[in-house]
Amino acid sequence: MLDSNLFPFSNGVLCCEGVSLERLAEKYGTPLFVTSRNSLVNQYRSFEKAFALLDHLTCYSVKANFNLHIIRTLAAEGCGFDVNSGGELYRALQAGADPAKIIMAGVGKSAAEIEYAISSGILMLKTESLSELRLIDEIAGRLGVQASVGIRVNPNVTAETHPYITTGDSKEKFGIDETDLAQVFSLIGAMDHVNLTALDMHIGSQIFDTEFYHAASEKLLDVLAVARSAGFAIRYFDIGGGFPVTYDPQKPATPIGHFAEKLIPLLEKAGTTILFEPGRFIAANSTVLVTRVLYRKRNHAGKEFVIVDAGMTELIRPALYQSHHEIVAVKPHDSMMVADVVGPVCESGDFFARARTIDAVGEGELLAVLSSGAYGSVMGNNYNGRLRPAEVMVDGDDATLIRKRDTFEQLIQNEV
Ligand code: LLP
Repeated sequence: MLDSNLFPFSNGVLCCEGVSLERLAEKYGTPLFVTSRNSLVNQYRSFEKAFALLDHLTCYSVKANFNLHIIRTLAAEGCGFDVNSGGELYRALQAGADPAKIIMAGVGKSAAEIEYAISSGILMLKTESLSELRLIDEIAGRLGVQASVGIRVNPNVTAETHPYITTGDSKEKFGIDETDLAQVFSLIGAMDHVNLTALDMHIGSQIFDTEFYHAASEKLLDVLAVARSAGFAIRYFDIGGGFPVTYDPQKPATPIGHFAEKLIPLLEKAGTTILFEPGRFIAANSTVLVTRVLYRKRNHAGKEFVIVDAGMTELIRPALYQSHHEIVAVKPHDSMMVADVVGPVCESGDFFARARTIDAVGEGELLAVLSSGAYGSVMGNNYNGRLRPAEVMVDGDDATLIRKRDTFEQLIQNEV
């Protein structure tokens, strides 16, 4: 849901901070992602404030939105980063992130990615299998260094969220089962080039109930006790990301302060630096996707379609997770209508909303698809030969182009 202070209506037009979305659409074209810089900063600061009592490092999960300007904005605030691939590590480093504040996840890191991470001097690599651990030891040995490693534990806690984004259940591919941990500890004990510095988990995304974190953290605390008794000096206790945001005003997210209140007393028991990996919490509501209505049509059954110039190639979340995104007219109408808001892609799943009550917009008018900042642009693609859109960041009255729109030439440039 938008912060109406950062996305106000001014003279009847929706703005991002001090800049009219209509003006931005005219200048940069549509579809267009527009991000409020101050929203990112506010969300990061509110997370920091909530957990201020804990010795902690927040590592923004860049997979949510990895535009260099977004990483740079958060790095300037002192934020660390969680990356999931060599490509994300490259982005973070290019944006000027401090390697000592970067952690790397990934259930299938390649040898090249592991080598890149170790030689970049990042804070730690989270390992998810015995085989990967052996490879890390071998690569660190070849490089003549000690790799700082965290074990991602699968706590077997099934968080209530969309099944595609629950990750802490033992039937999922993520993490190492509790039953294998004794073997992992003895293996690491015998390794020359691996330093076990962290225990880690990530139980899923958009989790409303603090109990799931509580239960999983308790399990991780048990693992911590075992690791310590095996002689490992664990310095970091990483509880992952997954903190929720409000997409649908009917389903308001649990406030972050509530998570802090429930979790701080438990996490203090770890006696380590606590790591957090929020992605969505920081990015989701910072951004709107501005799209123009191309056509309206009504079918034989009287069903109304609003066909817009953005689609599942720009924001795949409704198609993939049936997720709700609010849709508002950039210039609101007095009258409303019920319509399907659909994109130009040749898939029936290419919709933003079905049977939604929206402003009675006409052809050529602008709509804003809200809460598009996390897992929006980053999951975009060129299916149907679509050009990935431009992105703009607004800070007060200033708007900066932070990603140019793709060109036709770029669509074929790698095809040799
Ligand atoms: N840490 C790890 C290891 C993760 O895998 C993720 C997200 C995060 C942190 C950040 O989670 P967040 O705080 O953003 O919930 N595309 C889906 C979400 C996939 C999340 C994948 N992992 C969506 O659009 O809902």
